[in-house]
Amino acid sequence: MDKGDRAWKLVVIGGGSSYTPELVDGLVRYHESLPVRELWLVDIEAGREKLEIVADLARRMVTKAGVPMDIRTTLDRREALPGADAVITQLRVGLLEARAKDERIALRHGCIGQETTGAGGFAKALRTVPVILEICRDMRELAPDAWLVNFTNPAGLVTEAVLRYGGGVPCVGVCNLPITTRMFIARLLNVDPDAVEIEVVGINHLHWVTRVWVEGQDILPDLLSRYADPQQRGGIPANIPEFHWDPDLLRSLRAIPCSYLRYYYAADEVLEEQRRALSAEGTRAEVVMRVEKELFELYRRPDLREKPPQLSARGGAYYSEVALQLLEAMRNHRLNIQTLNVRNGGILPFLPADACIEVNCVVGRMGPRPIPVTTEVSPAIRGLLQTVKAYEELTIEAAVHGDWQSAWMALTLHPLVPSAAVAKRLLDDILREHAPYLPQFR
Ligand code: G6P
Repeated sequence: MDKGDRAWKLVVIGGGSSYTPELVDGLVRYHESLPVRELWLVDIEAGREKLEIVADLARRMVTKAGVPMDIRTTLDRREALPGADAVITQLRVGLLEARAKDERIALRHGCIGQETTGAGGFAKALRTVPVILEICRDMRELAPDAWLVNFTNPAGLVTEAVLRYGGGVPCVGVCNLPITTRMFIARLLNVDPDAVEIEVVGINHLHWVTRVWVEGQDILPDLLSRYADPQQRGGIPANIPEFHWDPDLLRSLRAIPCSYLRYYYAADEVLEEQRRALSAEGTRAEVVMRVEKELFELYRRPDLREKPPQLSARGGAYYSEVALQLLEAMRNHRLNIQTLNVRNGGILPFLPADACIEVNCVVGRMGPRPIPVTTEVSPAIRGLLQTVKAYEELTIEAAVHGDWQSAWMALTLHPLVPSAAVAKRLLDDILREHAPYLPQFR
């Protein structure tokens, strides 16, 4: 039977995540056009308790909605994979404790401490890439027809590692930032989000919106000052403190930078803020640990049958929308346009063909196909993209081969690391403090 004619089997690796109820909420909403007969939630031994709590809540959610979906759990992904139509990865190697270490190590050396950007994202990539490639090995053997939909951060870099080293597993990287921006623009313009189209140019967590079309008209030039208006709030995921762009910056770029670009364009301010926050409330991972505690207390309650509003304290708003729009378009061959992380080919000719980029794609049964960008990419944008993409390439080599020199050069190149000497000290601490998760460097 054709994939588009039958209900799907979906496997979520990292299924015990506190985000999973958001995904289940989406599965319920999309049930008509994306029927899922089996949802497998996979986790590791350390996540067993959370996995069962989340699965029980998911069962209550689908029962309440009257949606027939069998929700299964396992600690062995090989048990879950056979017959899967799609595999969603949303795992965190070393759990939130490792993320807190990443953020603290960077701050200790005078650098921004962030989950995906700079030294923190680098450390997370070293831990994550080998695990994702093991998942690819299992998928090739047990689920050769399945798509890998990767949310695992740093999502673009991890997706590129799969494109380069995953042995042909079809993979697409997803992120909630483009949709968050589109929703915010629709709110600013007071129009339906479906009436707004944006052109995204860049890589994950380092992209610029270079056009905004409303009913086919590009209104970006008029939008720039409104976008930077301090009276307007929103468009920034919950994990990034509220800020406002300098309108002159947006006019000079002739584009809207994604929120993560604040770490580059306002690195000094961000570092100051992070230092202040460190003594007041800890790093973002430490804040998230407290949010998680509260969330799991709620999830345990037998009377809870839907995604609780408290989940919006996490940064992943709309994440299920992104995943489900993608899967729905693939299953039903919609041929609609979505912003995704895919192989460059020749779309951004100043980046390697094998690089993973974040751009608009047409999505159908064949998966996502990137479409040409309509704007000339200015040197102001191109320069940063080339540097960070080269950093990502070196990081992937380091993560795959355990190559110390590539690792050092990656950090040295990163714009948020001030010198080769600091890069070396960062690397020493990362390799020492995360040694159990970095067997490739032994
Ligand atoms: C944003 C990013 C995600 C990231 C999340 C972190 O939404 O796009 O890639 O995972 O924030 O949120 P958290 O609540 O974990 O700090």
